[in-house]
Order: sequence, then structure tokens, then C-alpha cells
Amino acid sequence: MTERPADLDTAARLSVAPMMDWTDRHCRVFHRKMSRHALLYTEMITAPALVRGGARHLIAFDDSEHPVALQLGGSDPRELAEAAKIGAEEGYDQIDLNCGCPSDRVQSGTFGAVLMRHSDLVADCAAEMIHAQGREVTVKCRIGVDEQEPEAVLPDFLQKISAAGVRRVTIHARKAWLQGLSPKENRDVPPLDYPLVHRMKAAFPDLHISINGGIDSLDAASAHLDALDGVMIGRAAYQRPADILLDADRRIFGDDAPRPTAEDVALEMIPYAEAHIVTGGRLHQVTRHMLGLFTGRPGARHWRRILSEGANRPGADGRLVEEALSAVTREVA
Ligand SMILES: Cc1cc2nc3c(=O)[nH]c(=O)nc-3n(C[C@H](O)[C@H](O)[C@H](O)COP(=O)(O)O)c2cc1C
Repeated sequence: MTERPADLDTAARLSVAPMMDWTDRHCRVFHRKMSRHALLYTEMITAPALVRGGARHLIAFDDSEHPVALQLGGSDPRELAEAAKIGAEEGYDQIDLNCGCPSDRVQSGTFGAVLMRHSDLVADCAAEMIHAQGREVTVKCRIGVDEQEPEAVLPDFLQKISAAGVRRVTIHARKAWLQGLSPKENRDVPPLDYPLVHRMKAAFPDLHISINGGIDSLDAASAHLDALDGVMIGRAAYQRPADILLDADRRIFGDDAPRPTAEDVALEMIPYAEAHIVTGGRLHQVTRHMLGLFTGRPGARHWRRILSEGANRPGADGRLVEEALSAVTREVA
């Protein structure tokens, strides 16, 4: 059984959710500039892609991203173990198994939320992943799928994965409907059941439980943290990163060190973006994650427009970020 590093337990008080096409390495570097403590997750990568597809380059990351978790998709214990080992070698702090993602592509390979039907298999996968390497293995799940009865299914699921050695889980507090709803609808339509997640903490006091789904402010996060171990925020952190992350270190982690402003963060991203461009990358790949930085503030629309229109143009570089930033500052003045 792997020991749980205390610092990861603390980092998991607030995590930014794994989100495909969103939480790539550039996004995580950007988020890290706003919170030194929050736990960041990669997008899901499937074990077959990593083990058989030679997709190791897809999991490369920047040192500044720690603490950072690699999320894997899959259902073959051996392949997941191999993928977990690759992730550990690459330097990830934690390896997470996706049991919550309902998309068609993922269903076809018996990955994601459909695994809520196969708790014994998930336990086998987790046990092998733990055995294969030394990083902590965690699970992100739903409260159930389709016609399952969450009140019965979820405790059984948690009991089995705990017995396999998992000590930390994130529960997206709604069911997934595997037929009939799109992945997007599956993040909004099935009703949230926060009380059930809170009851799971009472039933499994030794399990580190993070709640996820529809949490859109640090106030809401703090309220859950009175009873739970962690909160995971997805869309709100991506769409309004400054609202969620700039004050997180002080409010969630009790770190009173001076916090950066959104302007500081924008400026700090310039050398990072320039370095990416030097290696053949495009400005847009970095700045597309930064469009929401000034959401709710005067000038937000200029910021978003200048970056989204200009960052894809040939030769676009850090000067575009400066230009967008001066449009924000002008608006404020
Ligand atoms: C664009 C997008 C991509 C997502 N990709 C993943 C993924 O790769 N793995 C995963 O476990 N969940 C994924 N999710 C679900 C989120 O991790 C999270 O569980 C969900 O958005 C609910 O949290 P929120 O209401 O705070 O956004 C994705 C969500 C979004 C919006």
C-alpha cells in the first residue's frame, strides 16, 4: 500500500478538475501562477495511448506545475499499471483513474463513468496501479450511472477501492447517463446530490473525499470544506480563473504571502509564451486559456477580443498580450 504524502492531502483541499482540451500544460502553468498550492490535473489520457501509442510526449509538463496529477483512462489493470509507471517516471505527483467521464469515445473502450458498474474491476485496476509504482493512486468518480441507485452503489464502490489501497477520491456529485445525454449535458442535467457525498464522508471517515460539480466560488468551496477534505472546481476555475484561484492560497490554504494581481499573471505569462514560440509553438496555444482572466472587470471584452483575434496570426508574440493588457488598463483608468 502506498503511503499518502501529507502535502498532497493538503493540496487536494482545492483542485482544478481534469478537463479535456482545456487543462493542458499551458493552462496548468497559467493556473499555477495564480495559486501555489492548489492541486492541478492533466486532461485525461488513455492508458492504451500512453502504453501502445507512444504518446509519452503528450504527458510532458513544466516543473512549475507541481503538485500535479496525471489522469488516466482505461480498464485493463496491466495496461493501467504500465501507464501509471510511465506517469510516475515522468515525475507526476499522483496518478488518477477516470471513472466519471461519459463521452461516447470513452464508453467504447470501457473507460470512464461506465466503470461505476464494475467496482471489482476498478479495484483490480487501482491495486495494480499502486503495486506498479510509488505515487499515490486516486479515483475520480460519479455517484452512479443510469438506473443505478447511488445510495447503494457508491458505498460499495468506495469500500472496494479503499480495500484495494485507494485513500483519496473525488466524487462528481451527479449521475452520468450513458445513453441519451451528450457529455456536456451530463455535466449539467443530472441533478447534483451534495448531501450524499457528505454522507459518504461520515461513512468512510478515513477516506480523503473531495466533492466536485457546480461549485463556482471560494465561498461555496469553503462551506464544503467544513465537513469534507477537498473541493474540485472545473468550469468556474477555467472560465473565471482570477475569481477562483487568485485568492485560493489565502482563503483555502491559509497562506498570507502577497498574492499576484491578474495583471501580474498576464505579464508573467509573456516569457513563458515567448519560450513556447521559440520552440515552434504558437501564441494562441497559450493565450486561449487566458481569455477569462479579466472576466467581470472593465476591459474584459477588449482583452478577450484582442487575444482571440490576434494570437493565431503568423508572427504573433508576447507583444499582443501587452497590447491586450493595455486595453484593460486603459478601460480601468
Ligand atoms: C471541457 C471539459 C472537459 C472535461 N474533461 C474531463 C476529463 O478529461 N476527465 C474527467 O475526469 N472529467 C472531465 N471533465 C469533467 C470535470 O472534471 C468536472 O467533473 C465537471 O466539469 C464538473 O465540475 P464543474 O461543475 O466544477 O465544472 C471535463 C469537463 C469539461 C467542462
